[in-house]
Amino acid sequence: MPAKYSINLFVVVVVTAISFYPGKHISAQQILPSLKEVFKKDFLIGAALSSMQIYEKDAGSVKLIPQQFNAVTAENVMKAAEIHPQWNVYQFEMADKLMDYAARYRMKVNGHTLVWHSQLPVFVQHMRDADSVMRFFVDHINTVVGRYKGRIYSWDVVNEALEEDGTLRRSIFLETLGEDYIVNAFRLAQKADPKAKLYYNDYNIEQPLKRAGVIALVKKIKAAGVRIDGIGIQGHWPYDAVPLQYIEESIQAFSSLGLETMITELDLSVLPGPWESNEADINKTARWNERMNPWPDALPDTVAQIQAKAYASLFTLLLKYNQQVSRITFWGVNDGQSWLNDWPIKGRTNYPLLFDRNSLPKHAFYSVIEIKRK
Ligand code: XIL
Repeated sequence: MPAKYSINLFVVVVVTAISFYPGKHISAQQILPSLKEVFKKDFLIGAALSSMQIYEKDAGSVKLIPQQFNAVTAENVMKAAEIHPQWNVYQFEMADKLMDYAARYRMKVNGHTLVWHSQLPVFVQHMRDADSVMRFFVDHINTVVGRYKGRIYSWDVVNEALEEDGTLRRSIFLETLGEDYIVNAFRLAQKADPKAKLYYNDYNIEQPLKRAGVIALVKKIKAAGVRIDGIGIQGHWPYDAVPLQYIEESIQAFSSLGLETMITELDLSVLPGPWESNEADINKTARWNERMNPWPDALPDTVAQIQAKAYASLFTLLLKYNQQVSRITFWGVNDGQSWLNDWPIKGRTNYPLLFDRNSLPKHAFYSVIEIKRK
């Protein structure tokens, strides 16, 4: 019997035994190996948390999260639209909760994100004049970074500022503030919290053209005498086409600039993509049709096995670079919660993470744990 099956069988046996053993409230998750423990000497293991999870209302993941992860990112609650809904109005409640939660479980918090063209507050979306955008930009960075100064571990200072060809994205920030806005964002963040680590975060930046864009950005930031500590490769990849070679080249390239690399939003979708290229722009969506939702009831075991292999190959590569890779964060905890059920097509059933809809470990979980036993 393959090892993975025997572990699964072990869990089933123990869970069954526990359920027949009244008085002892041990859950299945307590006997699971822990990702954060297994990779303790290699990298932080993170998860993006939803508001339900921050409030510990997501029953399945309440115990699982502190058991498996030592780093957290807010899936939404630190984005400008949520934390800064109107001029001079900040809504810190949820982000504060996340900070308390992380402190309670000794997890590092990555702030996501300060400057991003998506999920902007409505009052900013319609701005056209540079003065107003600049006022928002400076006030937002100073206030949000200032609030968590000394307590937050790191910030995704700028998110998704590049086009696929490596040129600067034609966003509201580029169009009103000009290309120096990126250097300025890092400068302001560094001043507001000199100890927080500062990152640039984006998708597809392992791809050569876009990677060259990142390298040019980093050089510009450094030439201005401003600090940048690392690069977050988001990692929204198809389960059957993880670009391992490009990831490896990127880790080497970022590391030769003196930067850490992180995989910051990892999920391996098993559903067909509507476009030829791999995308993660939340503003680009496609129409639903049945062909695009092949497994509404359950993930076929053959697919789950291929996904497990893909996760194992990725972690094997990242392990080889454990001196350069500082964190691997999953974009969500369990399949039911993943944003990929609603993006780029609403209402699909996707299975991109290590835990299933009942927060139970999938083959992919065991395959990742296994690589450390080899
Ligand atoms: C996603 C969230 O997961 C969704 O809940 C939200 O509706 C849209 O944004 N790249 C990013 C993340 O940097 O912030 C996005 O998160 C996913 C793509």
